[in-house]
Amino acid sequence: MSAQAISVTRTLPQRYYTDPEVFREEMERFYCQTWICAGRADQIPHPGDYFLREVSGESIIVTRDQSGKIGAFYNVCRHRGTRMCSQPQGSFAGRIQCPYHGWTYGLDGRLIGAPHMEEAGSFCRDEYPLNRVAAGVWDGNIFINLAARPEPLEKQLAELPEKFAAWRMQDLRLHKRLVYDVKANWKLIILNYNECLHCPVLHPTLNRLTNYLGADNETPQPTYVGGAMGFKGDAETMSIDGKRRRDYLPGLNEDERHKVCYYAIYPNFLLSLHPDYMMAHTLWPKAVNHTQVICEWHFHPQQMAKPDFQANDAIDFWDLTNREDWGISELSQLGISSRAYKPGPYSTREQLLHAFDEVVLAREREAKRT
Ligand code: FES
Ligand SMILES: [Fe+2]
Repeated sequence: MSAQAISVTRTLPQRYYTDPEVFREEMERFYCQTWICAGRADQIPHPGDYFLREVSGESIIVTRDQSGKIGAFYNVCRHRGTRMCSQPQGSFAGRIQCPYHGWTYGLDGRLIGAPHMEEAGSFCRDEYPLNRVAAGVWDGNIFINLAARPEPLEKQLAELPEKFAAWRMQDLRLHKRLVYDVKANWKLIILNYNECLHCPVLHPTLNRLTNYLGADNETPQPTYVGGAMGFKGDAETMSIDGKRRRDYLPGLNEDERHKVCYYAIYPNFLLSLHPDYMMAHTLWPKAVNHTQVICEWHFHPQQMAKPDFQANDAIDFWDLTNREDWGISELSQLGISSRAYKPGPYSTREQLLHAFDEVVLAREREAKRT
């Protein structure tokens, strides 16, 4: 086959990164109609613990009820619609009360108190529960879905639960969370995560630890892409010097101890499973050119309990790498916004990126058909 016969795939047109209307539609179809990762079950260990998430302008309360079940609700009072809860996280004292006229809801969303409404003729409390958002948990990771009739979370996750069972994510605990504001479209952050071609140029520290051409990528799936990378030389994990200062996660076999799995689980969860810890990014798009990124490092509690437990080697390493990635993503955003930008050619080593672009286009076509 001649070189010309191989068709070149190209990056997406400018509007996918700059047009507020495309952004609005993507928020609807990716962030409101599918499952997104909201956080971790251990953020809300007790009944009444909660945190808020903002999705496409909606404020969502994620909480745990008296029976221990995790649920999610729109942060909207059923009386006159007031946003009830303003603190980004905390603990409800057994109930959720609106600060306006005191309507009160159980942790399961039932309306349990509505002052003076008994005087209002046919009023029935059962008819005014909080508006529920679908919630589910995969191995310690909480997912929510704003669709009226969401498909099962299991369908979206496909093979992932089985693939990553050995890391026992639900046993891990948060040690550090950093929040970054990135002036780039959410898709650029996913694209950047999905390739290491940039590693020799952009990440000299990272490039000492891993072979940038050594990714073992699996066939892209409709709801995620990813693969594994091994280590260079005597590096044993991704840390500032490649040294591993924690035991391997219990449950990993020989093969799993010598690689990092990097998976972009659409639309907002970047999961990086290391031999001795888990790093998780969640993306929270704010505008077509602005994404908040929450990055968390989770470790095994037995390691965290050790007096000589160390984590800065992993945190400092990835914080440096994150900043390098966000910086280049912002420069990508700026360049793509130029009148000079035209879709550019992907190399054969950027297939995961093309696969993600295809998902973006396929969902757009699907939305237009319905
Ligand atoms: S708006 Fe919430 S109690 Fe009135
Ligand atoms: Fe990078």
